[in-house]
Amino acid sequence: MKIKKAIIPAAGYGTRSLPITKVLPKEMFPINGKPAIHYVVEEAVASGIEEILIVVSRNKNMIIDYFDRSLELEAFLTETNKKHLLEKLSVPKAHIQFVRQPYARGLGNALEMGMPFINDEPFAVLLPDDLFFEKKQSLKQLIKAYEKKNSSVIGVQQVKQELLKNYGVIKEKKVSARLHEIVDIVEKPQSDPPSNLAVVGRYVLHPDIFTFLKKIKPGVGGEIQLTDALKEMLKVRKCFGYEVTGERYDIGSNKDYFELLKKMYIAEG
Ligand code: UTP
Repeated sequence: MKIKKAIIPAAGYGTRSLPITKVLPKEMFPINGKPAIHYVVEEAVASGIEEILIVVSRNKNMIIDYFDRSLELEAFLTETNKKHLLEKLSVPKAHIQFVRQPYARGLGNALEMGMPFINDEPFAVLLPDDLFFEKKQSLKQLIKAYEKKNSSVIGVQQVKQELLKNYGVIKEKKVSARLHEIVDIVEKPQSDPPSNLAVVGRYVLHPDIFTFLKKIKPGVGGEIQLTDALKEMLKVRKCFGYEVTGERYDIGSNKDYFELLKKMYIAEG
């Protein structure tokens, strides 16, 4: 089945990036004049996604405004001889909808908001604070793997031992160069991580995940963790990890955000 729907959860508080995230969602952090989430929507569309649901919260209306047309501004540019700037207002071509997560109860809970939108189809998830500097879209790589295996596929990358405690980490059996069958998955292991393969912010999931999201209790940090639902799903369904290519930047980390700005500035001029 073709993967044509995606959920982009953007309702978190962005506590690591305070105080700016008190007023500016981290998904709107600028990168060469465009907000981070613009690049993630672009990646989804370039990977074949046609319908996108962005999960927002009360103070994230700026994201909704960004993807809407601004008729006033368009009229202003037209009337003031600045028509050449109209193209700067264009956003990636997809059908984009929004839903509010009333309280930031975790990534798993944000995804639950998308259950009626997904309607029993396999779907993609893209975390808008994880950006990849890569021509071969990370999501496209996962979609190809999903089509081959007809099972959920999670993006993973090798991460230094000392940093694994910040990620979901998989225990795996290698299938081919980049593909791994997941045997177990642990959220933020504080000791003895089961491998050096950490979950990064791209997923293609079987819709059964919603059944498990409903069943699980709050986990690490008191949040409904997608990792815990995946762990339950593993008991009945195969799930794979695919080592996506490309440099990843977590814009919730000041260092990564700065490095990405430098890289994009050099690349785009
Ligand atoms: P993160 O954990 O990286 O984002 O979630 P956060 O919670 O906003 O940031 P910190 O850790 O406090 O700095 C990954 C993505 O999931 C969304 C976030 O907006 C982010 O894009 N998210 C997280 C939700 O939509 N809802 C939640 O309840 C939690």
